[in-house]
Amino acid sequence: MDNGYFVTPVLTHSATRFVGAATFSALASEPARTKLFDDSRGNTSALTPIVHTRLGQEADLVLVAPATAHLLARYATGMADDLLTTTLLATRSPVIVCPAMHSEMWDHPAVQENLSILASRGVIVVPPAEGRLAGGDVGMGRLADIEAILERVEDVVGSGAASTRRELSGVRVLVSAGGTREPIDPVRFISNRSSGKQGHALAEEAYLRGAEVTLVTASRLGATEGVKVVPVETASEMEEAMMKEAPMADVVIMAAAVADFRVKTPRGEKIKRSDGTPEILLEPTPDILAKLVKCRRSGQVLVGFAAETSDVIERGHEKLVRKGVDILVVNDVSTPGAGFDHDTNAVSILGPGGVVHEVALATKRRVAGVILDRIALELNKRSKTMEKEASS
Ligand code: CTP
Repeated sequence: MDNGYFVTPVLTHSATRFVGAATFSALASEPARTKLFDDSRGNTSALTPIVHTRLGQEADLVLVAPATAHLLARYATGMADDLLTTTLLATRSPVIVCPAMHSEMWDHPAVQENLSILASRGVIVVPPAEGRLAGGDVGMGRLADIEAILERVEDVVGSGAASTRRELSGVRVLVSAGGTREPIDPVRFISNRSSGKQGHALAEEAYLRGAEVTLVTASRLGATEGVKVVPVETASEMEEAMMKEAPMADVVIMAAAVADFRVKTPRGEKIKRSDGTPEILLEPTPDILAKLVKCRRSGQVLVGFAAETSDVIERGHEKLVRKGVDILVVNDVSTPGAGFDHDTNAVSILGPGGVVHEVALATKRRVAGVILDRIALELNKRSKTMEKEASS
């Protein structure tokens, strides 16, 4: 609450034995929830059976602190027998669990296995600390310090303060997003798993920071009012739109997953099963980023993306040099919860000298914020150099 978040407390039955719901209700943004079905108004028509999904769907982050051994087991096995576990199953947002229990329980293989199952699904774990435990014991298992938990929360969702800085005021930002679709015939196409969420988050965050934003997108996702959207479908349509818009941009971000190959001669009519198995000849698509680099305007900042599954940093660095961009953002798409179609991402931001920032699993909006922080620094550096050149 003190950091400006809207907080809804959800208490398990056991939690209410320690601190009552009334205390949480008095401190939080809305009344504490304790039941799967809210029958507080005493009549069945007032039941709110969807609260178990609504809370999870609406939250930007679900934080379980403390997370008991019992809760971790229920969550790992997908049980949904109270409001907390149903909220956890209904959310697509980041989840942070902060285990707290006796040392022996913490060391138990069952607890550790449950934690690794959760971590492999992208759940973020803030490990316990050493200290005094219930019953006079001392050891590992004490709930992590509140500062450590809050730091992780800030890492994942941010406080939103950056969005109000309007540090990109007057800057023209061009972003590409989504996976292009290359037609085979009028009903079929070749594409990839990109959802466009990271590119759209970049456009939205840049707009909130005061930039004038154009979004060339192959995704069907919507965009904030105020962002100029240019919808495209194929790599060649994206190329045309990007080449048209780029000369006006101070920053170009190629977040799109452009298909590398397209069908050489797409059929004008639907291919019929009765015609037999078709052989489809592919040809390379134009490398849009390479073209943008070639005709870049002086002072323009160019940002590329790469999705890699192994040797992420080495391959990313090789790509940064080969493509000639200022910043390269590498997704390790093998990280659970990161990359294609997730609402969360984990990236390494590379500059010519190597890694400049690692962003652990966080919302795509938060990742967009960190990338834009880096771009703002780059723009600042450039304007200082230009000032120096002008004065000498
Ligand atoms: N890109 C592009 N045009 C293409 C393919 C990719 O502009 N035809 C851009 C992407 O938007 C991204 C960057 O180039 O910003 C890197 O894309 P990636 O597919 O990782 O690079 P490739 O050069 O295609 O290398 P790889 O062999 O690893 O696929």
